Amino acid sequence: MTEPLLEAEDLTVQYRTSNGLLTAVSDASFTIEEGQYFGLVGESGCGKSTIIKAILGGLDDNGRITSGKIKYRGEEIQDLSDEERNRELRWKEISWIPQGSMSSLDPLQRIDEQAIEIARTHTDLSKEEIRERIERMFDIVGLQKSRVSDYPHQFSGGMQQRALIALALFLKPAVIVADEPTTALDVIMQDQVFKYLDEIKEDHDTSMVLVTHDISVVFESCDKMAIMHAGQVAEVGSVVELFDNPRHPYSILLQEAFPDVRYPDRDLGIIEGNPPQNMGNVDYCTFVDRCPWAVDECRKNSPPLESTSSSTSTEPHLASCLRKEEELKVDRANERSLRGDVS
Ligand SMILES: Nc1ncnc2c1ncn2[C@@H]1O[C@H](COP(=O)(O)OP(=O)(O)OP(=O)(O)O)[C@@H](O)[C@H]1O
Ligand code: SF4
Ligand SMILES: [Mg+2]
Repeated sequence: MTEPLLEAEDLTVQYRTSNGLLTAVSDASFTIEEGQYFGLVGESGCGKSTIIKAILGGLDDNGRITSGKIKYRGEEIQDLSDEERNRELRWKEISWIPQGSMSSLDPLQRIDEQAIEIARTHTDLSKEEIRERIERMFDIVGLQKSRVSDYPHQFSGGMQQRALIALALFLKPAVIVADEPTTALDVIMQDQVFKYLDEIKEDHDTSMVLVTHDISVVFESCDKMAIMHAGQVAEVGSVVELFDNPRHPYSILLQEAFPDVRYPDRDLGIIEGNPPQNMGNVDYCTFVDRCPWAVDECRKNSPPLESTSSSTSTEPHLASCLRKEEELKVDRANERSLRGDVS
């Protein structure tokens, strides 16, 4: 069997804070295959950006991977130095569009100069080819071509992020990791970017990791997804499986909270309560206080992320819930609160 393209294995990340250690990501595991579009979803603060930063070596100074592995094409990359990571992975292999990416552009260099420097390090493209590519990317993200020679400070915040998206994509990298890119792009531009991705995917089998709190974007555009809650992976599997057959209560409720073409007149519910903070090695389910289907057992055990019966050999479907094999149904008569009964 071929190695997955990108793999997180039991990844735990902690931040040092004035209140002690905060475990932002706990034992997270998932794999992304070549050519796959992978969506990482969950509410604000659940650890999405932390996982991405850990994978890409961009954790804040007070953050640290305390256990687990990250593999790219089978090779462990969690211990690479910044220099090795920049030389071997950044831009051409894994390109990263960070959340709120304004600080990622070099303020002292014009955008086209930055493009030339990146391309010269990683490819043998001519200056004309580089310019042509970056101009085309400017067009795709909705910036005027004539502005490729501007300095970052000449752009607004949103435009800077678009310029960064252009830089992240112009070398046609193997994986694009985009953390909430849609905040910078309106719907038309998102469409153009996705069309461009489809185009480069045809030649390059490009993969994407799309981080968002909007599950409907993932349902529309990804092949596989992980749903995170309180720093843990609640459920992971193909988008079709998680849409049609969600096994973790959080996934069921999250899906209910978004509009569904099948029930256009339905009121949207909300997921009550907040996730617990600062959980390290806990011995209970972190969703227990929000879960309509919680039983006593859920307070005594931390459910591991395990295969569900709908896993196939090619696409595992895993969930971390003690009741993952039961048919848990939302009570539609009482939809606004999304409290449910077991059918
Ligand atoms: N540098 C830091 N120092 C201390 N705590 C941090 C730091 N960065 C993130 N955190 C904490 O780690 C947790 C996860 O944060 P993270 O940014 O990964 O969440 P997120 O899922 O990306 O949220 P959002 O959707 O709002 O971007 C949060 O509790 C956050 O407060
Ligand atoms: S383990 Fe229990 S509390 Fe946790 S999600 Fe499953 S049913 Fe709910
Ligand atoms: Mg984030």
